[in-house]
Amino acid sequence: MYTATTIAALRERLASWRRTGERIALVPTMGNLHAGHLQLVEAARKRADRVVVSIFVNPTQFGEGEDYASYPRTLAEDTRKLCARSTDLLFSPQPAEVYPEGSKTVVEVRELNRILCGRFRPVHFNGVTTVVSKLLNMVQPDVALFGEKDFQQLLVIRRMVADLDIPVEIVGVPTVREADGLAMSSRNDYLSVAERLIAPSLYRSLRAAKQLIEAGGRDFRQIEQQQLEALRQVGFNPDYFSIRRRSDLLLAEKQDVDLVILAAAWLGKARLIDNVQLKAG
Ligand code: PAJ
Repeated sequence: MYTATTIAALRERLASWRRTGERIALVPTMGNLHAGHLQLVEAARKRADRVVVSIFVNPTQFGEGEDYASYPRTLAEDTRKLCARSTDLLFSPQPAEVYPEGSKTVVEVRELNRILCGRFRPVHFNGVTTVVSKLLNMVQPDVALFGEKDFQQLLVIRRMVADLDIPVEIVGVPTVREADGLAMSSRNDYLSVAERLIAPSLYRSLRAAKQLIEAGGRDFRQIEQQQLEALRQVGFNPDYFSIRRRSDLLLAEKQDVDLVILAAAWLGKARLIDNVQLKAG
């Protein structure tokens, strides 16, 4: 596996692959890799000749008082994991090269960046879209892969790529879970032993809501309230629990069919997010 820590070194390596017409995949990450990330790498392998993984803890997507400084940075361990998965190139740039002094440009996907997680993390999605558009320009991959675990992020990125005519295929990869259902996340490390036992209740609540709808339940607002209460009962402090249209994340109404239920909730120091997709009857 090659590693590049500068854009120049990255481009040099990519140029040699591109000359021979190889198809290139990009998996953007912030590191502290777990089986969810590695699933993206596996999916990338199937879709391209060369797999590039980026590891960059992106300062602009963290709000004030969020966990940018304490976000787990485990580059040596991550490098070993990627080597074992036959990644071709690991790109881990420095913040000073990604955001040199004098940078002024922000990529904003309006409206979608203000709802759900965007209501509670107002700068978050502008940081994500800015860094992802930069990574797409640095690597110029044929395909880029993102997890459905961050469903709103995936939709925001699809919108950005369509709106800016970025020539890349965006692939969503299903959520990888622990045996008890908890969606894998770097932030799960923040959970105490006691909290870790409670954490799978987030997915349980999502599935309970899904079952109610599949059984014919159509009072979406009541189902949301009921599950918010269930989460509070077991010790979560929820930001939202919301039944939405899968295509545009607008609030679902009775006639909508393709749905996604999304939730974000605090458990101690960890803010957990998860979602399930479903078809209403
Ligand atoms: P990060 O949280 O490191 O996640 C990197 C990618 O892995 C994202 O596409 C995310 O959706 C996916 N992922 C995380 N947990 C997953 C799981 N349990 N199952 C499947 N996929 C999972 O998301 C980011 O980084 C950043 O916002 C980034 C896109 C890199 C921009 O900075």
